[in-house]
Amino acid sequence: MNDLFDKFQPMIDLRAGLLASGVEDPFGLVMERVISPTVAICNGRETILLGTYNYMGMTFDPDVIDAGKEALDDFGSGTTGSRVLNGTYIGHKQVEEALKEFYAMNHAMVFSTGYQANLGIISTMAGKGDYIVLDIDSHASIWDGCKMGDAEVVPFKHNDIEAMEKRLKRIPEGAGKLVVLEGVYSMLGDIAPLEQMIGIAKKHGAMVLVDEAHSMGFIGPNGRGVAEDQGVLDQVDFVIGTFSKSVGTVGGFCVSNHPKFEILRLVCRPYVFTASLPPSVVATAATSIRKLMHAGNKRAHLWENSKTLHKGLKDRGFQLGTDEPQSAIISVMMPDLERGAAMWEALLKEGLYVNLARPPATPANMTLLRCSLCAEHSAEQVQTIIGMFERAGKVAGIIG
Ligand SMILES: Cc1ncc(COP(=O)(O)O)c(C=O)c1O
Repeated sequence: MNDLFDKFQPMIDLRAGLLASGVEDPFGLVMERVISPTVAICNGRETILLGTYNYMGMTFDPDVIDAGKEALDDFGSGTTGSRVLNGTYIGHKQVEEALKEFYAMNHAMVFSTGYQANLGIISTMAGKGDYIVLDIDSHASIWDGCKMGDAEVVPFKHNDIEAMEKRLKRIPEGAGKLVVLEGVYSMLGDIAPLEQMIGIAKKHGAMVLVDEAHSMGFIGPNGRGVAEDQGVLDQVDFVIGTFSKSVGTVGGFCVSNHPKFEILRLVCRPYVFTASLPPSVVATAATSIRKLMHAGNKRAHLWENSKTLHKGLKDRGFQLGTDEPQSAIISVMMPDLERGAAMWEALLKEGLYVNLARPPATPANMTLLRCSLCAEHSAEQVQTIIGMFERAGKVAGIIG
């Protein structure tokens, strides 16, 4: 018998080798208790959280929690159905209203995850005979959406404006074109030059989708993302986002001004053929989104945190993903997986949790320690974090 697991042998060996070196499993951490958006108990010890994408710290907001509890009491634990059958409750409509207001757009469609939002919108909009032009460092959900839709997929070098235009020029006259970009790329924490890229996409007659998963709530004067910040949100056909980062719960969405947008509710398979979000989740999301409309102070504090951490790590000799802080993600480059895992473990022993990222999720075979800051991290916590990095970096031999 051909064992279908054989294809995973290289991954099995890599993992066994890593664990044999005595390092703790970086992909098996358990949060035994969560005390706040920035502190949890892991392995029995208090740990500062610096790898949760909980950018705005909404998970413990008292209004958000109350809304969830109330919905749980009033509507039960789940909908047990698709949005197009028995799975649309008043809460689903309310969260879509909140999104329309948040983005000042005409249409909003909520999915069960951000992954499904990309899968659904991309595969439904770009099918056989159409072309998708996308950044090579796009999130897995974008690639999977491309695969599912069966369009011609044309990747270009990360954030390379000229390469993008070259690809667009080669597409046959009259073919349907979708350009897919992200506001913030989550591996290195860098932003896209959306103003130029969207201008070029439009010049070539393409529709544009921007995934603002890592910028919603934080970047832009109203927290609408990088497209808002660069003044081109009105040219974006589809904004994709998630509730699993700044919003602080789970779920995904697409907002749009396209007049025919609503038909997607009937033709988009990852929307139709899955159960809708539980009432408590949509209630927490709606409350959180409404609060994010007025979160200017939190946004300003998060920028301060990002700048302080970036400078603190750079000054101590760490190699970072960007020269300047561009988002709430600060990526620290590791020489290889072994030393990356050793540094990750040394940080955990210090009482700090960050994400260890490795290929194939990372670009160019990099091993990264990805730090995502939260608006609820205090200035003191950020200083503590810098001290932890310095000590762990010396133990793991990353800095001198
Ligand atoms: C850019 C991007 N898009 C989409 C997603 C998927 O979001 P969700 O966690 O809601 O499935 C993620 C999640 O990591 C992401 O980073």
